Amino acid sequence: MVTLESIRTPIKADLEAFDAFLERQFHAEGQLMNQMLLHVMASRGKAIRPMLVMLCSALCSAANARQWVEGERNCTKRTYLAAMIVEMLHTASLIHDDIIDEADQRRGKPSVNALWQSRNAVLVGDFILAKAMKAGMESAQYDLVSHIIGAVTTLCEGEVLQSQHAREGDTTRQDYLDIIYKKTASLLSISASAGAVSVMASRKDVEQMRRFGEALGMAFQIQDDILDFSRSAQTGKPANNDLREGKITLPLIEVLEQCDEAERKEILRRLKMCATDEASVDFIQGVVEATGGAAMAARTMQRYIDRAVAILSTYGESPYRSALVNMCAYIVERNK
Ligand code: FPP
Ligand code: MG
Repeated sequence: MVTLESIRTPIKADLEAFDAFLERQFHAEGQLMNQMLLHVMASRGKAIRPMLVMLCSALCSAANARQWVEGERNCTKRTYLAAMIVEMLHTASLIHDDIIDEADQRRGKPSVNALWQSRNAVLVGDFILAKAMKAGMESAQYDLVSHIIGAVTTLCEGEVLQSQHAREGDTTRQDYLDIIYKKTASLLSISASAGAVSVMASRKDVEQMRRFGEALGMAFQIQDDILDFSRSAQTGKPANNDLREGKITLPLIEVLEQCDEAERKEILRRLKMCATDEASVDFIQGVVEATGGAAMAARTMQRYIDRAVAILSTYGESPYRSALVNMCAYIVERNK
């Protein structure tokens, strides 16, 4: 079992410095805003995206024969800036996502909207987004900031596309892949390529990192969707939320592609009832379990991981490459 520690090791000193750097952004005028920001900071996730920025910047530095010194801080200011902006975009997007999904929990803690209502939560998300843009503009690193900032529009398109398909109840495999690229893989892809851009890597390296992050991101979201069907996962969110929100994700798509027309009609009929009827949630969960929907989805996920690892193998052996290979394994194995 790959641990997060094995991914963090080569960039440990940089990650510690990064946390302090990020924390400085999470202050505002006003007691309520500060209280909410404190909660957001204390509920942070695994910091996959900042790790991706740093490890990809290190990988491309190593490719350019600029070796990092182990145990020391090696990131440039540009790399910290890129890591901070992607983490802030991600944080803001999850606050808004919980408002949209009316989710009460995030990472085992109450969501911002559950504690302070949507009207305040939306403003915390806006605040973090605005802070990220301000930090970007003040840095004057316009090439890097413009490389990252386009991700916001893609995230919004992904969310709206998902909401459109959930309402229409008609998600095909291609629709699903399009949605998860936009809502998740695009930001991981930007994180990886921003790492390369932050150290002035070649266009070829930037493109390789973009493709690597995209494949990793697709796998990341597929695993998220598999975990949603698992009642023993430790995601800090209730299982089957996707069904309650009417989302058709890969484990269910796999099943819908296998079954006959009558079964398909029945599943889609029950899906429409999931928002208010737990028996329908249990029914679809049962069908997905019996048909092996999660195992079929895992095979698709593995193909993306293989693609990501193949890109890494074009780089020479280094602690950063090993950490990124571990990140690929971690994404497949994680249960939270
Ligand atoms: C989580 O999906 C949500 C996302 C990956 C993207 C959310 C994006 C927006 C709300 C667009 C606005 C963006 C900004 C930057 C303000 P999920 O609901 O499937 O995952 P979950 O189970 O973790 O909630
Ligand atoms: Mg959600």
